[in-house]
Amino acid sequence: MQRPQTSHDRMRIFSGIQPTGTLHIGNYFGAIRNWVALQDDYDCIYSIVDYHAITAPFKPDKLRRRSHDLALDLLACGIDPERSTIFIQSAIPEHAELCWIFSAITSFGDLSRMTQFKEKSQETDFISAGLFIYPILQAADILLYRAQRVPVGEDQLQHLELSRRIARRFNSRFGDFFPEIEPIVGKGARIMSLANPSRKMSKSDGEAHYIGVMEDARSIHKKIRSAVTDIGPTPAQGMSEGVANLFQILELTGESDLYQEMQAEFVAGTLRYSNLKEIVFQTLMEVLAPIQKQRAQLAAEGQIEKILSAGAEKARVIAKENIRTIRRMVGLAV
Ligand code: TRP
Repeated sequence: MQRPQTSHDRMRIFSGIQPTGTLHIGNYFGAIRNWVALQDDYDCIYSIVDYHAITAPFKPDKLRRRSHDLALDLLACGIDPERSTIFIQSAIPEHAELCWIFSAITSFGDLSRMTQFKEKSQETDFISAGLFIYPILQAADILLYRAQRVPVGEDQLQHLELSRRIARRFNSRFGDFFPEIEPIVGKGARIMSLANPSRKMSKSDGEAHYIGVMEDARSIHKKIRSAVTDIGPTPAQGMSEGVANLFQILELTGESDLYQEMQAEFVAGTLRYSNLKEIVFQTLMEVLAPIQKQRAQLAAEGQIEKILSAGAEKARVIAKENIRTIRRMVGLAV
């Protein structure tokens, strides 16, 4: 198959990430690294989804700063604003408008089945209506640009299925407008917490549980050295979750020779965890150090505001044109 040449015959991708804290290596290996690779073959639109972030408790002064910081992080990781469109979601209020329109064709029953809502709503006292309709906003994000492919983690597949239902219902009620959406699930990288390897790596569990992409080497070293390796009774066969997690990180850094070597030592029963940890640390820093350097340079250049508003400008052109058509199809004011 020939590679498409222009943005017109490239398939469009949309994906989003919430500005809810520091980017960790689970985000990087599980999502962002795929986003970067996809830029070669697709017309990519990537959004920092602050409208989504406000559905959980947040502080206004932190929110805007985090959105900007995350934009710098994404660029440092290799998102290229020349080839892709990167912007902050709330710069395009059409996302919220389409969410409202979609809310009229989404059933309460479908929303009630969303497992992410069930989980998240157990973590807070105040359960916002926004948290409940979060998946509708996600559908609006994707469909506002009529994107066909959506790179996501496995945990988002249910939301994407709902997006597909919404698109189909719209098309059958108002006429064919939205394409079929297909998820692109990354290599299934699911990095676990260092301090509790039975849980997925997450910022909300606290400092000891994750490694930040921009974290300084000393602190990363310390966290890896104190990573849990064997918890509870040693399983009769196989590796403990913590050791498997360290191996997974090693594998993700792309050092397959070292990975094989360590695996062989494990099988032979000669592996020293302290040695494994040292190697994981060093190979991981080989991936992170250039990103951190790039991050510092981008921050010093001070162009992020400009880059984001140029990105929003590109997104706005598409969003405005599509929302106009949608309004007309639905019978709203034009
Ligand atoms: N809900 C997604 C997550 O938590 C983030 C997101 C928002 C998203 N809008 C999106 C992902 C649109 C893909 C497409 O990871």
